[in-house]
Amino acid sequence: MELVTTYICKQFDIGISNNMFGGTLICLIDDAAGSYASQICDTPHVVTIKFDELVFKKPVKVGNILKVYANVTKFGITSLELYIEVRKHNVYTGEQEIVTHTSVTFVRVDDDGKAIPIADHIKERYNQRMEQYGRGLLSAV
Ligand SMILES: CC(C)(COP(=O)(O)OP(=O)(O)OC[C@H]1O[C@@H](n2cnc3c(N)ncnc32)[C@H](O)[C@@H]1OP(=O)(O)O)[C@@H](O)C(=O)NCCC(=O)NCCS
Repeated sequence: MELVTTYICKQFDIGISNNMFGGTLICLIDDAAGSYASQICDTPHVVTIKFDELVFKKPVKVGNILKVYANVTKFGITSLELYIEVRKHNVYTGEQEIVTHTSVTFVRVDDDGKAIPIADHIKERYNQRMEQYGRGLLSAV
């Protein structure tokens, strides 16, 4: 898995129970996953087609630092499935605990919003980078 984004929970993210609002957390996941999928596929034209189950295991409070990690678990023809993990990061100890995790599936689309194939070289490049560097977001060398 690789780090995609880091976020600090703010006062305006809080719902009525003093915890971060679940919808805001889902938005953060969709943002992180979408930007990861875009970078992996070399195109901004990817759309979310599926969110798997989400369980909010730990509350998030104001000032908590969230780190979102991702990796591709499956390439289809036009789709890719990502595993996403959101962790609370303790700045004093460096320890992290999982707040929630899920899988999100994206589809590559053309200018008319129609599904189009993800090129083989994109899939091969990702697998090669993961094997070599443990990361998929490296720029080409
Ligand atoms: C994404 C979209 C273009 C796909 O078109 P479609 O005709 O429904 O889907 P298709 O039958 O062509 O399948 C496209 C891919 O989606 C996958 N897919 C379809 N339904 C799925 C589901 N329920 N779960 C997971 N994947 C699914 C298919 O397996 C296929 O992947 P593959 O080519 O790798 O095998 C269309 O559903 C759409 O525009 N959805 C709205 C997207 C959106 O607005 N998202 C929110 C904002 S980003």
